[in-house]
Order: sequence, then C-alpha cells, then structure tokens
Amino acid sequence: MISVQNLSHRFDERPVLTDISIEVGEGEILAVMGSSGGGKTTLLRCIAGLLVPTSGTVEVDGLNVHRQTEEARHRMGMVFQSAALFDYMNVEENVWFGVRRWSKASRSDQIDLVQRTLKTVGLEGAEKLMPAELSGGMKKRVGIARALALQPKVILFDEPTTGLDPVTTYTIDRLIVDVRDQFGVTALLVSHDVSSVFRVADRIAFLDKGSLVFEGDSGAFKTSRIDSIQELVQKSQATEFFISH
Ligand SMILES: Nc1ncnc2c1ncn2[C@@H]1O[C@H](COP(=O)(O)OP(=O)(O)O)[C@@H](O)[C@H]1O
Ligand SMILES: [Mg+2]
Repeated sequence: MISVQNLSHRFDERPVLTDISIEVGEGEILAVMGSSGGGKTTLLRCIAGLLVPTSGTVEVDGLNVHRQTEEARHRMGMVFQSAALFDYMNVEENVWFGVRRWSKASRSDQIDLVQRTLKTVGLEGAEKLMPAELSGGMKKRVGIARALALQPKVILFDEPTTGLDPVTTYTIDRLIVDVRDQFGVTALLVSHDVSSVFRVADRIAFLDKGSLVFEGDSGAFKTSRIDSIQELVQKSQATEFFISH
C-alpha cells in the first residue's frame, strides 16, 4: 500500500534522509522510530506529498505521490503532532471542514458521516465543544476523526502519543489499532515512545542519522544489537519497572 524507494532528502545541502526504502502492506501498522531530529517528520511529509524529496519515489496505492499528488493525497489522512485544530470551530465543524471540501455527498449525509466518525473515536456528545475545552487526548481524537472521515486507505500519524499521560497514551494506542481493525486502513506512524510502539505496531523501522538501520517485529527489535536501539529498549524497560512497582 505504501512503497518508498531510495528516498533521500537534503535541507540546504544537509542530508536528513539517506536512501530510505520501506514497504507497508495493506492493513499493516508500521512504526518508524528514531531519535529526535532524526528525520521522522520529514519522511512522513515526503510520503504525504507535502514535501518533494531530493531523490527517490513514493507510491501509495499504486499512485506516484509526487506525480499524481492530488489523487494520491485523496487516499491518505494525516494526523499531525500538534492536533492543528481550528480554534474557532467546534469539534464537529473541525471534522466536517475536510469532508465538505472533498465529498460529493449531500450535506445531511456529510453530517451523518461526521457524527458516525466522532462516535468511532469516542467523542460522541462532544460535537459542540470548542478546542479550548478539550483535553490533550480529546484533541488527538478529533485529529484522528478528521483524518478518518475522509475515508482514506492510509493514515499517517506523527507522534500520536507525545505529550500524553500514560493512561491517555494507552487509550490512543487502542484507538489506532481499533481503527485499523474496523476499517482495514494501513497506518504508518512515527514515534519515539517504545512502549506505545510495542503495543501498536506490527513492524518497526528504525532511523539512525537519516539511514534505515533496522526493520523487523518487536521481538527482533528487543534483541537487536544496534546500540541506539538497545539504549531505547533498556530505558523503556526501566520505565515499565517503575510504573508496575
Ligand atoms: N523545513 C526545514 N528546513 C530546514 N531544515 C529542516 C526543515 N524541517 C526539518 N529540518 C531539519 O531536519 C532534521 C530532521 O527534522 P525532523 O524530520 O523534524 O525530525 P524528527 O521528526 O525525527 O524529530 C532536523 O535537523 C531539522 O532541524
Ligand atoms: Mg518530528
């Protein structure tokens, strides 16, 4: 469903991503991990068609994202790190905003879709609240609803649980898996939260200094001999220990 081939990107001659190739199958959840500033968001923006890479190609559902950008973007929903909600619109209007732009359905069918989507993400009854009245977790849910309402084949998540407390993180992790199970969407998420990634991802890719140095499941990740991965795994095990004792 997502195919990234030999993708490299430089910002002002500074290499940020080097020769990245990744495939994500239909209905799969792939997590891309790596240190902060390591190029994760840049990779996501290249896949979303928001940024043209210096070289390489990206295909989504068989469409070249940088040549058939409009068509490809209709197949993707993006959940930004900051929920990026419109402060002056309520929850329902925030979700409807994108639907209204793309959908050919009648207004009442559109509203119906928005309400069903809000129910799916657990925001039933919150339709008329304004962004300022929402908790961090609720804002994330609106962001997910906004992507999901466009009925995409692929959802890209940028750090979906960063800044959330452990309990809210857990509920958002569940929601991401539920959305995949219910709608069969393919998901690519970037994150530096190891415990969250272990709960959600079918497969993990790890970026180090702009190169893809690991690809595999969580078992292989845990036993990887790569230093930066070992460091992350040990840190997360220490945190789990403190939470459970
Ligand atoms: N628009 C931009 N112009 C110049 N440099 C950028 C731009 N966006 C990101 N960078 C740089 O590229 C590197 C990777 O950033 P980013 O992809 O945001 O990393 P991550 O999401 O892994 O934290 C950083 O050093 C960042 O400063
Ligand atoms: Mg980032």
